[in-house]
Amino acid sequence: MNATATVSIRSAIDAAYLADESTAVAALVKQANLTTVDRATISGHGAQLVEQIRTASDPGLMEVFLAEYGLSTDEGIALMCLAEALLRVPDADTIDALIEDKIAPSDWGKHLGASSSSLVNASTWALLLTGRVLDDDRGLAQPLRRALKRVGEPVIRAAVARAMREMGRQFVLGENINSAMKRAAGMEELGFTYSYDMLGEAARTDADAKNYHLAYSRAISAIAAACTHGTVAENPGISVKLSALHPRYEVAQHARVMTDLVPRLRSLAMLAKSAGQGFNVDAEEADRLSLSLDVIEAVVTDPALDGWDGFGVVVQAYGPRASHVIDWLADLAKRTGRKIMVRLVKGAYWDAEIKRAQVLGLDGFPVFTAKAHTDVSFIANAQKLLGLTDYLYPQFATHNAHTVAAVLHIARDLPKDRFEFQRLHGMGEALHKIVLKENGTRCRIYAPVGAHEDLLAYLVRRLLENGANSSFVNQIVDENVPAQQVAADPFEQIGDMPKLRKGPALFAPHRANSIGWDITHQPTLDTLETELSALRS
Ligand code: FAD
Ligand code: 2OP
Repeated sequence: MNATATVSIRSAIDAAYLADESTAVAALVKQANLTTVDRATISGHGAQLVEQIRTASDPGLMEVFLAEYGLSTDEGIALMCLAEALLRVPDADTIDALIEDKIAPSDWGKHLGASSSSLVNASTWALLLTGRVLDDDRGLAQPLRRALKRVGEPVIRAAVARAMREMGRQFVLGENINSAMKRAAGMEELGFTYSYDMLGEAARTDADAKNYHLAYSRAISAIAAACTHGTVAENPGISVKLSALHPRYEVAQHARVMTDLVPRLRSLAMLAKSAGQGFNVDAEEADRLSLSLDVIEAVVTDPALDGWDGFGVVVQAYGPRASHVIDWLADLAKRTGRKIMVRLVKGAYWDAEIKRAQVLGLDGFPVFTAKAHTDVSFIANAQKLLGLTDYLYPQFATHNAHTVAAVLHIARDLPKDRFEFQRLHGMGEALHKIVLKENGTRCRIYAPVGAHEDLLAYLVRRLLENGANSSFVNQIVDENVPAQQVAADPFEQIGDMPKLRKGPALFAPHRANSIGWDITHQPTLDTLETELSALRS
């Protein structure tokens, strides 16, 4: 590849930012290159895995809880709002007011006894009683109600805070890297490896960013002790978020980001290289993708990293740019003569991306709007990655049995050490235990480490992901949904899109919306610059 080709891949990435969904998906169907027989085989295996998961294990408490209180019920939404806000509220009075606001008005009675879990049913009782105590209008005489409320509020406050903490604990491996590594030993014995994630993102000040930088450095050094194997693929590794390493990680601060963030990231990558461990850059919001590629290129092209195949990048299949980003990474690997690890995920910021595009009045979305399109994109990009294993080491991060079956089918003739699966701590355990045992493929667990205060953003993403009734995790616990339906072929569902309004049509039919400019998108900035200079001259 020459420099012109590299530049043209970057242009293709930029051009696909708000790509027309139907056109993008049609290209992905071609890229997936699966016959109807392939697709039937994949769905069949997916359904079989669903049956195996359902018989082999009891779903975790979190899954059962989210099946009863998902995002499709008012009560589920009330609980998510509470989880999101509670731990940020500093004083008891406001906490009480928040709990009262969220718990009292909902109809907890209709969930009584509805769950298959006695613990979830007991929680429903608790929520119902809490609602009765807090609600002004239900029965009890005023003085009695006031007295009950006074006695009850501290108890309720403590109980709700505890429940939220428990919910968080499900997703965190340990409060510090040493306790996390100790707890990892059990799964490691079963053959799993780990990628530790030091909780924390979106640094607000330079002091925050420096602290996160130091925390990452300490973690890499601690993990080094467990890097006893000869390859990064066999050793534990670390995942980092660029937003933790700079308080102004945004396009408008490009120069500062390149001056400050690049050396921070390079120093961490160098440490990981010395430790022989994998070092993975997580993918965050879509408006940061292009900036992240500049940062990644500056670090990866440093000859000091020669001889190390441990630099990793996350690609989000829910964005129409994913396939071009993989082309760019393959080009980067060829340019540097080093393999790059590519973790393919569906993407964790879907709701935020849809909202941002609408708020800015953009004429499109940077993510697909149909779940099946994201599933197809994942499979098509798995196909692409598995054809590039001389340059890239694919890491397929999913908890969905159909998606796993698709990867296994596409990779059926490849040696097992050419790629790995990944799952999040607290999710997908039964599926990946079965796959590891039956298929002998590798699986790495992404494990958040840290204090509760830093968990919030991560926890909210997990609740939104798992609370959606379209999510795999949500469907697998609902025995009423047949296995064939849970593992249904997403290619059959192409075109079935929700009617989400794009920016220009937000106020239709009353009025047209004003044009929105996305000043994080380079071609948009170039257009603005050209138009402004025409005005200036
Ligand atoms: P499924 O239930 O099959 O898919 C759910 C996903 O589908 C949603 O998360 C969303 O991406 C997509 N989706 C849902 N509704 C729609 C819709 N209407 N239109 C289009 N798409 C839709 N995420 C990141 O963003 N960055 C990371 O760096 C990252 N690292 C990860 C590392 C690991 C090891 C793992 C396992 C996950 C990581 N994730 C990351 C999170 C990942 O994006 C979610 O866990 C994943 O999307 C869930 O997909 P699934 O196949 O397990 O479940
Ligand atoms: C997230 O932080 C797992 O990176 C993913 O949501």
